[in-house]
Amino acid sequence: MSEQTVPSNDDQIEYWNGRNGEKWVANQARMDLILAPFSEAVIHTLAPAGGERAIDIGCGCGVTTRAIAERTGKEGLSLGVDVSRPMIEHARALAAAENNPAEFLLADASSHTFDGPGFDLLASRFGVMFFADPDTAFAHLHGAMKPGGRLAFACWRPLSENSWFHVPLLAALEHVEAPEPPAPGTPGPFAFQDKDRVNAILKGAGFGGISIERLDVEMTMGRADGETGDPVEDALYQSLEIGPFSRLFADLDDTAREKAVDAVRKALTAHKTDRGVVLNGSVWLVTANA
Ligand SMILES: C[S@@+](CC[C@H](N)C(=O)[O-])C[C@H]1O[C@@H](n2cnc3c(N)ncnc32)[C@H](O)[C@@H]1O
Repeated sequence: MSEQTVPSNDDQIEYWNGRNGEKWVANQARMDLILAPFSEAVIHTLAPAGGERAIDIGCGCGVTTRAIAERTGKEGLSLGVDVSRPMIEHARALAAAENNPAEFLLADASSHTFDGPGFDLLASRFGVMFFADPDTAFAHLHGAMKPGGRLAFACWRPLSENSWFHVPLLAALEHVEAPEPPAPGTPGPFAFQDKDRVNAILKGAGFGGISIERLDVEMTMGRADGETGDPVEDALYQSLEIGPFSRLFADLDDTAREKAVDAVRKALTAHKTDRGVVLNGSVWLVTANA
């Protein structure tokens, strides 16, 4: 297998192999509960069939890859690809424990040369927004597919429409210096927020039949049956510990941190319901054909 040269994804590779990758592994079960509606939407749209060959891009701990493998079966292939060693190792262990036929590959999906015949399916739950050069990455992935192959992925719509992100963020910013907003399209969770950009990337890569639909889902960030037994504390842990949001708190002294944490706790409490702390998650559900 050979690798072709594309702009460097080194920053992302370092990020997902560091403490963040370990946090995703440690919190995999809770993340999979919160994010389940999005993988279900991707898989429902993709409709994998027995014997088909699929790639799950940026598969993380592999829940989507395993769900696809249950449909593609032993005659097919569901291959999860990710740059994060801790997450790929965890994904392999989970599949082995369930005797699930999913396979996992530690590789950069934007440049890895895939063996064998073309793939029928490309899937992703939040794993396609981290490429330094998405045009080249999607052209490369298109080249790995059979003609007529199906693509489906979920990516975040703007931060302002994702209350799971902006509610704790705005509360914290009462006490924490606002970070420089990233330039539009910078690799990261909101890199694909602009529907026109996503459409142009896919079209330029050779995809047809492109559909980009809004999907809004309730995200239960904190549950009474979570680790702390208190939905607000559970949501607080989720907000502060996991994902890019946690970077904000890294350099704070104890007093500033306490004030910021209190502000986030108060903001989350306002969203407490009988079912836990419920916030909105808004994504683009993107489908296309090779
Ligand atoms: C937000 S996480 C989502 C993980 C998983 N799909 C899920 O929904 O639980 C993004 C994932 O994309 C992976 N990733 C980032 N850049 C990648 C690349 N160039 N090739 C493969 N995976 C990549 C990260 O390591 C990380 O596991």
